[in-house]
Amino acid sequence: MWTFNVTGKIKAGRGAAGEVGVETAALGRRAALVVGRHLIKAGEAARLQSILGVAGVEAVVIPGPPAEPTLDDIAEALAKARNARTEVIVGVGGGSVLDTAKAVAGLYGVPGVPGEVVADMLYGRRPEPGSRQVLPWVALPTTAGTGSETTHVVVVTDPGHGLKQSMRSSRWFARVVIIDPELYASAPPQVTAWSGMDALTQAIEAHTALYATPVTKALSAQAASLISRHLIRSYRAGDDLEAREAMAVGSCLAGIALANSRLGLVHGIAHPVGVRYKIAHGLACAILLPHVMRFNLSVAGAGYAELAQVIGIAEAGPLVAHRLIEMVEEMNRQMQIPAKLAAVGLREADFPDLIAQTMPSGSTKANPRAVGRDDVAEILAANL
Ligand SMILES: [Fe+2]
Repeated sequence: MWTFNVTGKIKAGRGAAGEVGVETAALGRRAALVVGRHLIKAGEAARLQSILGVAGVEAVVIPGPPAEPTLDDIAEALAKARNARTEVIVGVGGGSVLDTAKAVAGLYGVPGVPGEVVADMLYGRRPEPGSRQVLPWVALPTTAGTGSETTHVVVVTDPGHGLKQSMRSSRWFARVVIIDPELYASAPPQVTAWSGMDALTQAIEAHTALYATPVTKALSAQAASLISRHLIRSYRAGDDLEAREAMAVGSCLAGIALANSRLGLVHGIAHPVGVRYKIAHGLACAILLPHVMRFNLSVAGAGYAELAQVIGIAEAGPLVAHRLIEMVEEMNRQMQIPAKLAAVGLREADFPDLIAQTMPSGSTKANPRAVGRDDVAEILAANL
């Protein structure tokens, strides 16, 4: 048996951000606008605040986290939203900002001090929040990457324990997702490359994950196709709105797929690697993806072959699955992404810790090929 959960509504197209007023007003009159810091500087937060104002929504601005959110970042944003007696949350930014907005909405009404509420949820020390404890939230993504806008997952770093892990609730899907390619145009090439490779990793991992279903596979195949055909274009010309829109929709579809199928070993290893070497999630995924695909090939080859054909890079034949791996390596090369984690500081002395943190991950458990400690060690060794 399987279930398919999905966000309430998606509105996509140029100028769609203008819809934020009417969509938010339907959910509440007092909003907290959790916004990426560069968007505040660029005047985008003020523009959205005035669109909300015209629709009769009073909005306070809460700056998003400076990097991938920590426990403290989320607790601080939650405290600010509670002080403003908010009825609806609007998240505008990349995956880190959207994850923060989602966590604030998702834990808003859970009784307790913000820091404890967030830590208890992250470490599974309390039950899933009840429907009355969760606020509705609206997502306006500005990078094509995590797909946070269409998932119910929040990834949190706990620097005190050197851990990065996810928390989730089936009540945490955004009520409305607004995709406006114009909001993506300012993402610099490196952010575009790294977050775009996260999106591609998610599409490929979702497609071959243990819990993939016919519905998620339809979405992940289309996501992989849109992303692999438009990422290099968006990287080379940020103002190519046609490519930006295809990437935006692709990462959004990958998000819907992974929320239901889960992911795989790239994500299992990427979280501990990201924390240890302080590198962006998308960069860790990009480097690891071809290595893990080679490991999975014996089990996931048919899934890779299917994707290669949907993307249009290969006809049916014995080597078609290999073509997908080569395509990923070529995309990395074109965007100056290194082939091995050694380039970001991987050391053999760290292997025991990295392996210990990879094994219990939900993503590792959803990988199509069963993973042992020795397998992780081999993949890491190939990265030296
Ligand atoms: Fe990811």
